[in-house]
Amino acid sequence: MKLLKLRFPVIRPGQHLRGVIVLSLLLALVVISNLFFISPDGHAVASNDSTCAGCHRDIHESFIHTAHFHDSAPADSNSIKGSFEEGKNVFAFNAFMTVAMLKEGNTYRQSATVNGSEVQSANFDVVIGSGRNGQTYLYWANNQLFQLPVSYYRPAGVWCNSPGFPNYAFFNREIRPNCLECHTSYVKVLPSADNHFEFSRESMVFGITCSRCHPGSDQHAAYQLDHPGEKEAKYVVNPARLGRQLRMDACGLCHSGFRVALKPAFSFKVGDSLALYSIGKPVSQQGDTLDVHGNQVGLLTASKCYMSSPGMDCFTCHDVHKTQFNEPKLFSEKCVSCHDGLTGPACTVKVDKNIVLSDNCVDCHMPIRASRAITLNVANGGQFLPDYLRSHYIAVYPDAMASFVRKHSAARP
Ligand code: HEC
Ligand code: HEC
Ligand code: HEC
Ligand code: HEC
Ligand code: HEC
Ligand code: HEC
Ligand code: HEC
Repeated sequence: MKLLKLRFPVIRPGQHLRGVIVLSLLLALVVISNLFFISPDGHAVASNDSTCAGCHRDIHESFIHTAHFHDSAPADSNSIKGSFEEGKNVFAFNAFMTVAMLKEGNTYRQSATVNGSEVQSANFDVVIGSGRNGQTYLYWANNQLFQLPVSYYRPAGVWCNSPGFPNYAFFNREIRPNCLECHTSYVKVLPSADNHFEFSRESMVFGITCSRCHPGSDQHAAYQLDHPGEKEAKYVVNPARLGRQLRMDACGLCHSGFRVALKPAFSFKVGDSLALYSIGKPVSQQGDTLDVHGNQVGLLTASKCYMSSPGMDCFTCHDVHKTQFNEPKLFSEKCVSCHDGLTGPACTVKVDKNIVLSDNCVDCHMPIRASRAITLNVANGGQFLPDYLRSHYIAVYPDAMASFVRKHSAARP
């Protein structure tokens, strides 16, 4: 286990940069990365999603707005969410060392200065993170990728120090293949003589694209285009048709936390058994292992819902072709489809009859919990604030129930 510290500045209402928050991130196992590359089907990943649009227009139209699709991108004024405006473009690591985010034409760079003189600088080349929660940035140096010292923290709308960077800026934090395996659709890992990791720049496919979840889709598209009368799909994998463990593995590649790799990055394909490619770690149901690299698979599979319903998987509730965020009612309909009192037990809680339960099962049973893995330390105030995430351990939470009732009673006149 490795303890990493990071700092986030916080802005409170009516105040300027208030202080520095320290995030103590308990990143468990550092994934053993791959020393060589085998490309079983590299070309299949590099498909152009727009070919799919011709025949799957609705899915394509909604998918291109999702966090998956925008999860990584070349750096530009659109993809970088932080501000380059004067007054908002400087992050202070300590009293002497600051990093300025500079826009020069179509080039964006981070410039680290000590007592006002530049000591090092590098361009924003690759953006990781759609900006839903946060973003971090990478730069190319020959065929290697390195993380920039300053990231963007969406909830406060400010620049912050990158996860794992202590209270000074540096530019030699190398990116390993596993990071890109979860955050891009494909990049070719080049053989390298020593302990470095090199990638082919041109091969990188940004975002999480159709073919990442639907292997065989290039061959499928070519075949269907050649046989326009054909109504049956050929060659492409639809995760819904797999057995349950393989359906869970389809999402588990990226949504079961950091894993110890047994095989090279990008060798797993949807339809394979994930256990042959990497090993996950045990999960606690208390939220203490949750962070932005959360383990939805571990928490869900520990829930009674999952254990008692052989058909349940991640897409019982999620349509990954759409953006479904902050929609408790939509998700509650999924709960009620099983908990209608006939197929499965209905809710037994007794509350004031004016409180409507059916609009929001999730805030009581899948509450947003304080993570104990990430603690925010407001350095000036000496206060510790936790980070918050939606728990996928579906259960009865008396404290969540109490705050739900408080909130909904207060909301009425
Ligand atoms: C020329 C038309 C055409 C193109 C192009 C095309 N598909 Fe299809 N696809 C079909 C047809 C027809 C079906 C079968 C009917 C259906 O499920 O819509 C299908 C079905 C599918 C299925 C479901 C398979 C199943 O077994 O349930 C997936 C997944 C899929 N396509 C993905 C893709 C992806 C990804 C692309 C782009 C790389 C793509 N398709 C391009 C025509 C096309
Ligand atoms: C095992 C897969 C995996 C690995 C490895 C991984 N990530 Fe992530 N990362 C995720 C997932 C999944 C999320 C979204 C988390 C959630 O909502 O639960 C995420 C979230 C993020 C976010 C915030 C995006 C947002 O808005 O939610 C950033 C930034 C990020 N990762 C950067 C990195 C970097 C940099 C590396 C490598 C040094 C890395 N990640 C390694 C899977 C991974
Ligand atoms: C994150 C993984 C993921 C990505 C990315 C993804 N899909 Fe899917 N897709 C799924 C899953 C899971 C299903 C099965 C959904 C179900 O039946 O509940 C599916 C089902 C389908 C189907 C079968 C018909 C249907 O409506 O369910 C088609 C067609 C399809 N996807 C096309 C696409 C296209 C085209 C893209 C890109 C624009 C895409 N998918 C991107 C995971 C993904
Ligand atoms: C290749 C890695 C990968 C795979 C496979 C994958 N995801 Fe994700 N997923 C991510 C990352 C990374 C993010 C964070 C995106 C961001 O905000 O930058 C994410 C975000 C999400 C979100 C939050 C989206 C939002 O708008 O808030 C949901 C829900 C989700 N994934 C569900 C799934 C499901 C269900 C599957 C399986 C069908 C799946 N994912 C497969 C990597 C993956
Ligand atoms: C696919 C069907 C299905 C879906 C969808 C589903 N559940 Fe369940 N859930 C079950 C089954 C089956 C049980 C076990 C009931 C029993 O023990 O008799 C269960 C158990 C529970 C329990 C009791 C947990 C415990 O530890 O005692 C709660 C609370 C619950 N579900 C809430 C929810 C909520 C909230 C949702 C939506 C976010 C949901 N469920 C979605 C099938 C489902
Ligand atoms: C019983 C329903 C249900 C199931 C099953 C389910 N989720 Fe979720 N998930 C939710 C709800 C509800 C939210 C909050 C959505 C919102 O903001 O409206 C959510 C949010 C998310 C997010 C956004 C990050 C966060 O913490 O807010 C990710 C990522 C995600 N789910 C991944 C998954 C994956 C992967 C699986 C399968 C292991 C899965 N979910 C299974 C109900 C479910
Ligand atoms: C105000 C918070 C709250 C809301 C909203 C809520 N529940 Fe509950 N639910 C509870 C509590 C608390 C219990 C435990 C009650 C007890 O044991 O007396 C419970 C019990 C349950 C159980 C377990 C029943 C059993 O077999 O013991 C299920 C299933 C359930 N809820 C499902 C749901 C679903 C589905 C919804 C949305 C329609 C929902 N709940 C909305 C608080 C809530």
